[in-house]
Parts: sequence; structure tokens; C-alpha cells
Amino acid sequence: MKTREIIERDERYRILSFTRLEPIVITEGRGAIVRDVEGREYIDCYAGIAVVNAGHCHPKIVEAVKSQVERLIHCCSYVYHNIPTAELAERLAEVTPRGLQKVFFGNSGAEANECAVKLARKYTKRHELIALECSFHGRTLGTLSITGQSRRRRYDMGPYLSGVAFAPVPYCYRCPFGQVYPECDLLCARRLRDVVEYHTSKCVAALIAEPVLGEGGIIPPPPEYFKVVREILEEYGILLIVDEVQSGFGRTGKMWGIDHYGVEPDIMTMGKGIAAGMPLSACIARPEIGDAFEPGDHLSTFGGNPVCCAAALANLQVFEEEKLPEQAAEKGEYTLKRLREMMEEHPLIGDVRGLGLMIGVELVRDHDKKTPAVEEAKRIRAEARERGVLLGLGGVKGCTIRFQPPLVITREQLDKALTVFEETLSIVEKRG
Ligand SMILES: Cc1ncc(COP(=O)(O)O)c(C=O)c1O
Repeated sequence: MKTREIIERDERYRILSFTRLEPIVITEGRGAIVRDVEGREYIDCYAGIAVVNAGHCHPKIVEAVKSQVERLIHCCSYVYHNIPTAELAERLAEVTPRGLQKVFFGNSGAEANECAVKLARKYTKRHELIALECSFHGRTLGTLSITGQSRRRRYDMGPYLSGVAFAPVPYCYRCPFGQVYPECDLLCARRLRDVVEYHTSKCVAALIAEPVLGEGGIIPPPPEYFKVVREILEEYGILLIVDEVQSGFGRTGKMWGIDHYGVEPDIMTMGKGIAAGMPLSACIARPEIGDAFEPGDHLSTFGGNPVCCAAALANLQVFEEEKLPEQAAEKGEYTLKRLREMMEEHPLIGDVRGLGLMIGVELVRDHDKKTPAVEEAKRIRAEARERGVLLGLGGVKGCTIRFQPPLVITREQLDKALTVFEETLSIVEKRG
């Protein structure tokens, strides 16, 4: 069966609800390489949306999955205890920031965030929430309600939850206050106090934030941002939930995105990179917060599935053995440097930003008005794919090329991907 046939079948029978799919049919993956049904190879710089951090089909993770599948696939970890789920909860308590200890397992990032929000409300006995403009926390009705983007929180699928206020995004390239860092004195963070005072009834359970905004366009807040935010939250007794679904598991060059900011959250959520592509997510909280749930308050039939937990345990072992966060830091620095050099030659590049291998290149038609180069970005992505490199595309303006490859990508593969990206920039710039 070849590409066209499979695409036709997909289009007839699947609800393709996100965007036009890339017109390739992937059949195999290893490390940072995927192969399609026609036998063509691609360097994968998107990693299934920042998921396969340890690489596609890492042999140790494959082995762990096989071995668990032969013993026990499912028992419902909310009805019976099982060994991989118990072991993984303990490991997550060890590898997450100090104080986080009680874990709830789900299947997706959105589900982990739903848990975090319910937990924060239950513990604080408050119902309001604050999220950031440009944020993204998932596609369930609850998580869309705390997502700060109208292009995702569409009017024709609401109404959404009430009691949600949005704080200014720390998006320096498009500063909501027209200021420049560091002269801005972190106005975006300090404005949180006004949000609490004027946009809520001061019954706020938690603020939820991504340490690096992913779907918003790979936006790392300034280094002092979370310290200022944390201080304000403490004044009002508001919990801090960090959504590490995209920034976690080494992606930013440290184990957690929040590790760059010297702040310890009350609740943390994770997904994507947790189990190398097996569907699993987790919400981990300080013990007194986790214990706020009473029997019957929350459950997920597949959550904490033993096969997924076995994959996650093997994944964590690979992280340690292969020092994946360190690899991401080193390769990320190199990639950022190369992309910043390209900025000199290529007027389409408006901004290059990121941490570790969570990197965004925002494309604009002109540097003064910063007009989003949306069509150009789509063409670059397509041209790169034709040349054997898969890139991500996103951002609130739809013009940010995303480099989020498996952290095990080799220097040679990275160089090839960057060269191809630069070639496609030249092609698109020339065509105008
Ligand atoms: C920061 C963040 N939170 C939550 C989610 C939702 O995760 P899922 O698609 O697994 O529900 C995403 C997905 O992109 C994300 O980037």
C-alpha cells in the first residue's frame, strides 16, 4: 500500500481535526530518523511534537515494553496495585523538584492538567484560575478554558469554564507593553498583581504556566520571570502549577523547564516525553495537596497502565545513562548559534529563541512591523520535507518554525537539517 492510497483512506474515514496532515506515511523510526512507506528517509526535527526525546524505538525501551506486554498489559491501576506503576510513581518523586511527591497517572497532557486543576481547587477550596496569554494546556473543554489563544479556544465549541483570568505573556519579541528586556523591569510578571486585584474575585486556586510556552511559539520567559510571579502568588496564597508537558524530560537542556528559573512549583504536570511515545501522563503534587482528593474524586481507566509505566521507567534509565538533558543543552546551544548566524543573512528570520532543543524561529515579512510570514513558513516546512527534513510549525501567529528533534540527534544529522533549513530559507526568500 502506497502513500496516496493510505491518505485517501484516512481522509474518508478519520476526523482529521487539526490541520492538513503532512503528505507522508511514516512506517518506521530509529533515533532521529523516520522512514516512510516509499522507503524515503527523513531527519525528524519534530519528534512527534516533542515526544520521542530518547529517539524513536530506543532498543532498551522497546525491550522493556516487550517484556511487560508478555506479563501484564492492563489491570486498572486505580483498582489494583501493580509493580511498574508503583515503581514509576516513586521514580518521579525522586526526579521532580523538591517537595513533589504524590502522583496521579493519566494518558495525555490534557488529562494531567485536568487533574492539576481539580486538585488545586479541592485543596484550596477556591475555584478561580489564572493562566497566561498565548498559553496552551490541551484540547478538553477544561484545558481549553485555561488556554490563552482564541485560535484554539474557538467560539463555536464553547462555552468554556468561567472564573479564568489571563496574565500577560512574557513574549519579549512581541512584548504586550512594547517594552524591551531588561529595561522593562519584568512588567509582564509584575502585572500579575493587577490581574489578581482587578480580573478575579480573589478566590484564585492556582496559576498554571508552561516554563517555556510551546504551542504559543516556543517562548522562554526571561530568567527572573518565575521568581517575581512566585512572590506575588505567595502574597495571595495562590498555588503554582507548572505544565511541563512539552518542556519536561530534558527537552530544555535540564530535566525540567522550571529548573532554569530557580522556583519550586506546588503541582507539576508532564506527558509527551515521559514514556518515549507510549501514551502516559502524570500530575505530581506536594503530598498535602495530593492527599486532598477523597475516594471517588478522580480516576482514569487506562491511567498508569503497566506497559506505559515500564516504558517510562526504561526511558528514565536511558536519560541517566545517556545524559540526555546534557546532550540537549549542548546541541541546543550549537543549534541556536547556527540559527542566529543565519539571521544575519536571511531577512525572513525575525527572532531565534529557545532553551536546549526546544527552539523556535519566528519568520516575519518585515522587521519593523513584524508581519507574520505565515505562507512562507508553510512553504519552508514543505520544501524541507521534500529535502528529507521534518520541521514543526506553530506559534500564536502561525509563523514559528519549531526545532524539537529527539535529544539523541547526532551532530551530523543536526548539521544536515540546519543546512537544509537554510537552503529552503534562500529558496522562499528568492521567490518572494
Ligand atoms: C504545554 C502543553 N500542555 C498540554 C498539552 C496537551 O497534551 P496532549 O495533547 O497530550 O493532551 C500540550 C500539547 O501540545 C502542551 O504542549
